[in-house]
Order: sequence, then C-alpha cells, then structure tokens
Amino acid sequence: MMSAVPNLLLRRIRVAKERFLPFLRPADDNEALLRRHLREGELYGLFRNKREPVSMAVVADVSASFAAGGREAGLAPALEGLRVCECTLLATAPAFRGQGCGTQLLMRLCGLYDSTCDAMIVGTGDTPRMRRFYESRCGFRPCFRRAGFFLHGYPQPLIEEGVQLRDMLVFCRFLRFRGGTGA
Ligand SMILES: CC(C)(COP(=O)(O)OP(=O)(O)OC[C@H]1O[C@@H](n2cnc3c(N)ncnc32)[C@H](O)[C@@H]1OP(=O)(O)O)[C@@H](O)C(=O)NCCC(=O)NCCS
Repeated sequence: MMSAVPNLLLRRIRVAKERFLPFLRPADDNEALLRRHLREGELYGLFRNKREPVSMAVVADVSASFAAGGREAGLAPALEGLRVCECTLLATAPAFRGQGCGTQLLMRLCGLYDSTCDAMIVGTGDTPRMRRFYESRCGFRPCFRRAGFFLHGYPQPLIEEGVQLRDMLVFCRFLRFRGGTGA
C-alpha cells in the first residue's frame, strides 16, 4: 500500500539515537526495554521533507535466539538456524497514523534486510487491530507466542481494545536471503 504522505525519505540514524526516545515511547510502555531496544538495535526513520520524523522503527539481529539451543529455538522450529531480524520498536507520529506510513516503513525495512536475513519477526499484543496491521497490510503471519510477556515489567496492566494483554504474539515474514547462520 502506498502512503498518502508524500516525500518520505528513509534514513538510518547512527548518532545520538536517544533523541528519538520520546518518538518511540508509544511503541513500548516498558521504559527499560524501550531504552535497551533503542541502544542495541538499528534505528530507521521515514522523514517528511528530509527532517520531520513521521514513522520510526528499530531492527535487531536476533539470530542467536533461533540457533540450536537458543532462547526461542524451540518456540519456532521454522526459524531454527536461520538468520532472523526483529523489528523491536515501531511507531508513527499520532498525526500521521492510519495513512500508510507504518506499512511503508516496515515494507522498506523488509526490502533492506532481504539480502542479509531469512526472516523478519515482530511481536505485539494480540488485538484485532494489530493483527490487521501486520497480517493484512504487511504480509506477516502469526508464528509463536511469548507467554506472559506483558505481565512483567509494565507499570500497570496493559489494556488494548478492551482486552488485557498477556502473551506477546510474534509475527513472521520470510525474506529472500537463504544463507542461515551456518550454526
Ligand atoms: C501501529 C502503528 C505503528 C501503525 O502505524 P500507521 O502509520 O498508523 O500504520 P498504517 O497507516 O500503515 O496502517 C494502519 C493500520 O495500523 C493499525 N493501527 C494500530 N493502531 C493504530 C492507531 N492508533 N491508529 C491508526 N492505525 C492503527 C490498524 O490496523 C490500521 O488499519 P485500519 O485503519 O484498517 O484499522 C501506529 O498506529 C502506532 O505508532 N501506534 C502506537 C505504537 C504501537 O502500537 N506500535 C506497535 C507496537 S507492536
């Protein structure tokens, strides 16, 4: 889907990433996790007129989790031994939501990681809206669950679309790279 917002430029930000913490805050209410994701991952943004951030995301290499004996290898056999990246944070500025920017950013990131990764995963609360976003718009498929993920580390119970979030639902989209980790 094309974004209705014109002149969006994709940039990777390497310097002083923390200045974008406020922008990314809606993507995760767990402040410690938010900071860790931003510190450890690669930060990208779609900028309008070159300088105004519209939609931003963080991507991390999580291949080690899916290597033999890795933390999540048993949860997703289809990903075992593959080179996997995870979109750990994703947010669109409130004024630009619902205009295709988040979809465009995620699709462009899939294109960017297509030649180095076998799959991209992304975890979210299991709500109809997020399913629509990742499945219908972005072509991801439900893959596995991180049981009880939202019950720890959050300041209060997370209620979305009237439902308390418990498990994190992880979606996956396979990319074209077929190298695996060699592990
Ligand atoms: C989820 C989010 C990144 C989507 O970005 P976006 O630029 O609005 O996405 P798009 O315009 O490409 O797609 C819109 C779809 O996103 C989903 N969506 C989820 N939350 C939304 C929101 N608050 N506003 C608009 N769309 C939202 C819906 O499925 C919507 O489709 P619909 O209009 O058919 O319901 C954005 O809404 C956001 O920043 N939300 C707050 C942070 C967050 O929840 N991040 C994801 C954590 S996994």
